[in-house]
Amino acid sequence: MNIPSLIEAKKRTNNKVRNYKYIKDNKLKKIGLNKKYYIKTYGCQMNVHDSENIKALLEEMSFKETVVLEDADVILLNTCAIRENAHNKVFGFLGRVKHLKEIKPEIITGICGCMAQEENVIEEIRNKYKWIDIVFGTHNIHNLPNILNDVINNSKQEIEVFSIEGDIIEDIPVKRDSKYKAWVNIMYGCDKFCTYCIVPYTRGKQRSRNMDDILNEVKDLVRDGYLEVTLLGQNVNAYGKDLNGPKMSDLLENVAKTGIKRVRFVTSHPWDFDDDMIDVISKYDNIMPYIHLPLQSGSNRILKLMGRRYTKEQYIDLFNKLKKKIPNVAITTDIIVGFPLEEKQDFDETLDVVKTCKFDSAFTFIFSKREGTPAAKMEDNVSLEEKNKRLKQLNELVNKYANINNQKYLGKIVPVLIEDYSNKEGYLMGYTDTMKLVNIKAPKCYMGKIVNVKITDIKTWSMTGEIID
Ligand code: 5AD
Ligand code: SF4
Repeated sequence: MNIPSLIEAKKRTNNKVRNYKYIKDNKLKKIGLNKKYYIKTYGCQMNVHDSENIKALLEEMSFKETVVLEDADVILLNTCAIRENAHNKVFGFLGRVKHLKEIKPEIITGICGCMAQEENVIEEIRNKYKWIDIVFGTHNIHNLPNILNDVINNSKQEIEVFSIEGDIIEDIPVKRDSKYKAWVNIMYGCDKFCTYCIVPYTRGKQRSRNMDDILNEVKDLVRDGYLEVTLLGQNVNAYGKDLNGPKMSDLLENVAKTGIKRVRFVTSHPWDFDDDMIDVISKYDNIMPYIHLPLQSGSNRILKLMGRRYTKEQYIDLFNKLKKKIPNVAITTDIIVGFPLEEKQDFDETLDVVKTCKFDSAFTFIFSKREGTPAAKMEDNVSLEEKNKRLKQLNELVNKYANINNQKYLGKIVPVLIEDYSNKEGYLMGYTDTMKLVNIKAPKCYMGKIVNVKITDIKTWSMTGEIID
């Protein structure tokens, strides 16, 4: 058994990152014969992509996927630790899993992802959730086949979570959810240590993948008919800083040159967004004019307490530069309200920045105390009532600008990658280059194609359009 340690998770050294390849263990390939797995994924795109790896590892062992919880022989929850409500959702769902386990004790139940990396969560699982069979973390996903094999043979709780800076493991198999769009990790971990954020503790030190490995993955995707890649990292603009080699702008340019039709990247930290990046984005038509640029707060006092390393003036300068140099760019953001010591005046400054930037959209959150982070020790002096009030006020403003931005699309012709059926009967759905969700009444032969669409109706969070031949 290996359990996580907060003290170890905080450490950063200059030790070289180990980079090695996953090797399949053929002895385990029949373990899942005639058995099914169910996986539920919480949180960010990084977790979604980790689940794509987990699925492929299970399928290498002959397990088949089911979307019906009750049919599963293996149930895995790939968890998120970013805010308390993500925690609560997981513990809520575990109630259902426990009920199934009581009826069918031979089911294997497991927890992985960011919550598994938290010392206090593991303590709770060891004390109160003894029926959970396996727990593994973000650093040893590739080891799932062995962990599963061990629990099948030993039938005692297996907890294998490492609080380490982390390695880079290439060639982990992947079962992609889409045939047209692919997630591509370019880096792991984060060294920014924003004071509210648990990620640097759960995902380890910043480790950039070698550029050639990334480019080979993208070239393979192009060959397999993929139209879009999204380059993934907690802080993609810092790509390469730990390699003393290529920068994010170099990587982005080379990815664009592979000929893939669409390139996206998330998430950007304003601190590392340099002019070379902006030049490359504006130079290549296949780099999409869409940037997610978390603001977090519009108050310099709060930004400092958050450890964000920029002022609101610097943020607005960058924002204006992006708008000026990248035609038609859409910019979205993340904002936290009710950070410890946030006064009404600080919050008003956040509203002012929103009024200045008129974001295409924003993800807004109430501050959530994460044990072990510096902000958890700050005086959380804003009442819940006040936090809710601020969130509501912010959301009203954000929605207003989202709607105004969308209105500009009415009657326009925009490129859309049609990727799936819409929830709306008879409609397909996809995203514009600027990441606007469009529902289109069209036959399914358009699936997997980038088509010109005329926007005929606008809502705050989506649009309706028709295909122009
Ligand atoms: N409380 C509230 N929001 C948070 N985020 C990260 N940590 C916290 C926290 N402790 C938000 C940030 C980040 C997004 C992914 O989640 O806005 O950009
Ligand atoms: Fe968290 Fe800040 Fe790193 Fe983003 S940049 S993952 S908010 S520590």
